[in-house]
Amino acid sequence: MTRPGIDLGDGLRFDPPLLLAPMEGVTDRSFRGLILDRNPGAVGATCTEFIRVTAPPIPARRLAPELDPRPRAAPLGLQLMGNRPDMMAATAVHAAEAGADYVDLNFGCPAPRVYQHCAGSALLDDPPALERLLRAVVEACPLPVTAKIRAGGEHDGGLEDLARRVEQAGARLLTVHARLRVERYQDPADWRRVERAVAAVSIPVVGNGGADSPRSIESMFERTGCAGVMVGRGAMADPWIFGRWRRPGGPASRPEVLAWLGDYAASMERGGATPVHAAGRLKQMLRALDAAGLLPLGPRLPALLRLKRAEAILADLEPR
Ligand SMILES: Cc1cc2nc3c(=O)[nH]c(=O)nc-3n(C[C@H](O)[C@H](O)[C@H](O)COP(=O)(O)O)c2cc1C
Repeated sequence: MTRPGIDLGDGLRFDPPLLLAPMEGVTDRSFRGLILDRNPGAVGATCTEFIRVTAPPIPARRLAPELDPRPRAAPLGLQLMGNRPDMMAATAVHAAEAGADYVDLNFGCPAPRVYQHCAGSALLDDPPALERLLRAVVEACPLPVTAKIRAGGEHDGGLEDLARRVEQAGARLLTVHARLRVERYQDPADWRRVERAVAAVSIPVVGNGGADSPRSIESMFERTGCAGVMVGRGAMADPWIFGRWRRPGGPASRPEVLAWLGDYAASMERGGATPVHAAGRLKQMLRALDAAGLLPLGPRLPALLRLKRAEAILADLEPR
């Protein structure tokens, strides 16, 4: 498929308009690197997992390790989450020094530990505070700033107001996760909410939520009129999803999936992950790949999930 790229100004383009969603505990440097490697030319941008900002601001030297090396196959955003405009603005300036291509603000995280601290999705209930925070970051940060919201907290009645405030505050792009905070990750996500946001603002809107196959990515574009689509869990279930949207083809073969897992473990270890940490990430992938049918493991899965080290998992997966 071909869709026009998204121009964010200042030379920043998301082209093609297909984005890898930030996912805490998943989309680390290794995962992002492999997604870009297996989907050449098919991912328009990636983003770090959220970085929680309280006080004091986070220095550039602590942000830099989160970022991919240059040159990058696609622009990389650094995602920040917090509720103090001064701390967020200062950290966004440090993100620019550390080498991010853009800064994204998270207004969608539903985790109680975040929500109770009035950050992430809590700000959906206080649109003026959300706007103030975003404006402070936009004014301070030399990079383009984007925002990612859910469609609301407990209802979606304020969606248009939220979207307009994001635009008024100076964000270059708005991502709408089509679920409410109270809906967590419930299916199906209501894509009419993306369509409503598209109608409410003139900045590009990226639709997100439940686009988990090449066909559903295309139908998100068609049904909502969004400028871009962001894929989250669909990229765990099928790490080739972006390329398959762009150039339709069959699913990856078992040897390709096993090679992906091996490369993933090797990349994590090169990045300093312990074998136990790498094993945890591999198990997360095995569950997703098994559930999606890309690597059917059936009755073997529980035994694999009991293994403690990445190399043991990989050895067990090899054909005997
Ligand atoms: C394990 C996990 C971690 C996530 N972490 C983040 C995060 O750090 N920042 C963020 O904006 N959204 C985060 N999300 C939400 C995703 O970016 C995305 O909005 C959501 O999964 C819906 O898209 P999907 O249906 O394509 O998965 C996370 C989701 C999951 C499942």
